Amino acid sequence: MDESATPPPVAAQGSGVPSHRVSARPGEVVRCDLGEVTLAVDVRGEGRALLLVHGFPLDRSLWAHQVATLTGWRRIAPDLRGFGASDAPADGYSMATYAEDLVRLLDCLRVSTAVIAGLSMGGYIAFEILRRYRARVAGLILADTRADADSDEGRRGRDEMAALAASQGATAIAGRLVPRLLGRSTQQTQPELVRSLHETIARAPEAGIVGALRAMRDRPDSTALLASIAVPTLIVVGEEDELTPPQLSKAMTAAIPSAAMTIIPAAGHLAPLEAPTAVSRVFGEFLEAVHRP
Ligand code: MLT
Repeated sequence: MDESATPPPVAAQGSGVPSHRVSARPGEVVRCDLGEVTLAVDVRGEGRALLLVHGFPLDRSLWAHQVATLTGWRRIAPDLRGFGASDAPADGYSMATYAEDLVRLLDCLRVSTAVIAGLSMGGYIAFEILRRYRARVAGLILADTRADADSDEGRRGRDEMAALAASQGATAIAGRLVPRLLGRSTQQTQPELVRSLHETIARAPEAGIVGALRAMRDRPDSTALLASIAVPTLIVVGEEDELTPPQLSKAMTAAIPSAAMTIIPAAGHLAPLEAPTAVSRVFGEFLEAVHRP
């Protein structure tokens, strides 16, 4: 299934100079040197661009099914800094740096505008791109995410989890998070997915985990942004998502003019992994409507 995660990245780019390479075979991964960091990115297909931004503490394999199946679009699925095969610097993590990285990545790939799909933390980053580079956003897919900032209790929880990552490593984070990320149906019926998600998180670099936790802790509230969103927007949420439950998605849908919402049955917080076929179908229908002549 996760053919994107199998081969090693190829083709390092010249330092600091935007350039691009497009994958020549399924599973080939491009490395884009953005100057401060090099990102690994799976690029498939031709057409209008769809940028797929993963959540915490995952990597581009979250989008394996969508990358494999959404033909007619140029699917661009990067590992964020600190995750997967991208560089994991010791510091420099914030919503601003993730957003700047991704816009530089689009420059590197010679992409002017993209539909941006962000899951959870990926949604927080999509909001940041909208704030900074609205003209680069042709459409939005907000999956299992929320617009508000962390509460005081939530911020304390980030610090506590960062301390756990520093003292016990990524395996402890996997043990803590996997039962919360996956819906109860998935946990009962997809043991292989439970195991592979645990492995993915346990592989995440500690610097990336701690950096992302601090970035999420300090992220701005995006609620006021919602009413100004003028691009076609799809909101997708797993029926059993306990981290960002469907009522949050309903509130975002009500606040964004012309947003539509779909609930994915029997899926939790990671709907693209738990119900990949359903999510790809819903994404595909939305994308077709976005660019229907
Ligand atoms: C994610 O999936 O990216 C995280 O659950 C987001 C968060 O913890 O706020």
